[in-house]
Amino acid sequence: MKTFKKVLALALATVMSAAVLTGCGQGSDGRTIIRIGHNQSTNHPTHIALVAFEEFIESKLGDKYDVEVFPSELLGSQNEMVQLTQTGAINFCVASNSLLETFSTNYTLFNLPYLFASAEAYHASMDDEAITGPIFESTKEAGFEAVTWLDAGTRNFYTVDTPIETPADLKGLKIRVQQSPTNVQMMSLLGGSATPMGFGDVYTALQSKIIDGAENNELALTDNGHGDVCKYYSYDMHQMIPDILIGNIAFLDGLSEEERAIFEEGFQLVNQVQRTEWTDAVAAAKDRAANEQGVQFLYPDTKPFQEACAPMHEDMLAQYPDLAPIYDAIQAYNEQYPSTES
Ligand code: GCU
Repeated sequence: MKTFKKVLALALATVMSAAVLTGCGQGSDGRTIIRIGHNQSTNHPTHIALVAFEEFIESKLGDKYDVEVFPSELLGSQNEMVQLTQTGAINFCVASNSLLETFSTNYTLFNLPYLFASAEAYHASMDDEAITGPIFESTKEAGFEAVTWLDAGTRNFYTVDTPIETPADLKGLKIRVQQSPTNVQMMSLLGGSATPMGFGDVYTALQSKIIDGAENNELALTDNGHGDVCKYYSYDMHQMIPDILIGNIAFLDGLSEEERAIFEEGFQLVNQVQRTEWTDAVAAAKDRAANEQGVQFLYPDTKPFQEACAPMHEDMLAQYPDLAPIYDAIQAYNEQYPSTES
């Protein structure tokens, strides 16, 4: 299956690169094809939201554009899809904020552990263009820009057979993290051994015991089957990392003013639909993981985890002082919407 997917992805990538090189993004009916890639299943809120985008754009501009959504890493891993979006081989993709820090260091901010005090503070910050604007636009020179954000919940540790109650429990464990320097640093401060890899490789790595665990939101347990292998999911709440819908800059700049306004409406729709679907999807995943996969949910004291990661905030501010005003604006939301944990 995996090999098949890789071959298909390669074939698609080759076809698309050829299409771009020869300047033909046109379908046989003469409409321009808009390709959007992501790495989630067709049940996932992200896919549902992108299908709503497809329907919206085609209802308004269907005589000119044919929107096609490619789920499940069909166009490649997230890293590969970001590169395809950069070059214009595809028009849009969804990338975790984690990966984007290697394209613009501004993205490092949203990857900080324990940056947001609560889900409300996270949502309010991500909805505030004074906070997201300087970050979302920082990759324009690299060929793409962020057009909206998607909720990806809270990231927590889960393991095959070691309940994580304190950071000390992570010692000696190989934990898959996303491919970003911030995540590697976080894992080392928490005492585990970081094993960076793409999302699509995690299930096999868990099953073959190359890694002892991973960290993600609850949907990874059910949608990606990680809960078939990992039996302990521990709410240490270390990160709320958004997913970002990015678009090729030449494509976006090539839209007329009227078209761009319609696309902007569509981007807002993606955000709203995904967010509405998210809460129910997490509740359903938790229920299925507990009752069908036999996953045990643990609720450790988060403070020791938070304390271990605390130096990362000062380090980041020292390294990227330009981000300080944005960091402070987030702290204001943290005061307005504090943690409800006792
Ligand atoms: C979440 C997130 C994805 C990301 C994945 C990962 O599922 O929504 O964008 O790729 O985590 O851990 O890699």
